[in-house]
Amino acid sequence: MVRRYDPDRPVPAEVVNTALGNAIRAPSAGFSQGWDFVVLTSPEEREAYWSATTDPDDEPDSWLAGLMTAPILILCLSDEGTYLRRYAEPDKGWADMDEARWPVHYWDIDTGMAALMILLTAVDAGLGACFFGTPPEAHDDVFEAFDIPRDRNLVGVVSLGYPLPRPRSGRLKRGRRGLDQVAHYGRFGQHPPT
Ligand SMILES: Cc1cc2nc3c(=O)[nH]c(=O)nc-3n(C[C@H](O)[C@H](O)[C@H](O)COP(=O)(O)O)c2cc1C
Repeated sequence: MVRRYDPDRPVPAEVVNTALGNAIRAPSAGFSQGWDFVVLTSPEEREAYWSATTDPDDEPDSWLAGLMTAPILILCLSDEGTYLRRYAEPDKGWADMDEARWPVHYWDIDTGMAALMILLTAVDAGLGACFFGTPPEAHDDVFEAFDIPRDRNLVGVVSLGYPLPRPRSGRLKRGRRGLDQVAHYGRFGQHPPT
């Protein structure tokens, strides 16, 4: 993830289009495609996002100051209703639209997969990106600021821009969990000999 961007290098519109074009190739349960993307490109639009999500009396910490340099923000929204309606169709047959039928909320999962496509496109295009969450208490203000229908979920935001040089992520010190820990063969807890 890239959390600080070159403010003097705008992102070409074609790159944003390619990223969004790839996002809509993500898999979705029942091919429901219950996602929307609100793309913020102008300083005023981005400022509206930051003022809806931060306290103007607080000095931004380095994380926030870095992310605020992003020239593009893409709000990734999921739409539960689209899934409930899609799965009420005859080939799926969940006509009662009971949310309890869902093993997990595929609408949020699929929107996350679409966001991953944006992240991967950024890498291919030589850009940097970061997927980050919006604090729940700020959601109402964000929805209001951008006329987002209230039945959507704000799954996350992707910032996009040309990366500035950055120190190696401190999080890497945590170490990546290896296949010998996370891959279970045959049954949970059984790992192949290394
Ligand atoms: C669901 C999800 C939520 C995340 N939320 C944030 C966030 O709020 N802020 C942030 O800086 N990074 C966020 N990330 C990015 C992770 O911190 C990042 O993938 C991880 O730390 C490894 O990347 P890094 O080494 O570049 O930090 C999120 C990632 C995911 C998948």
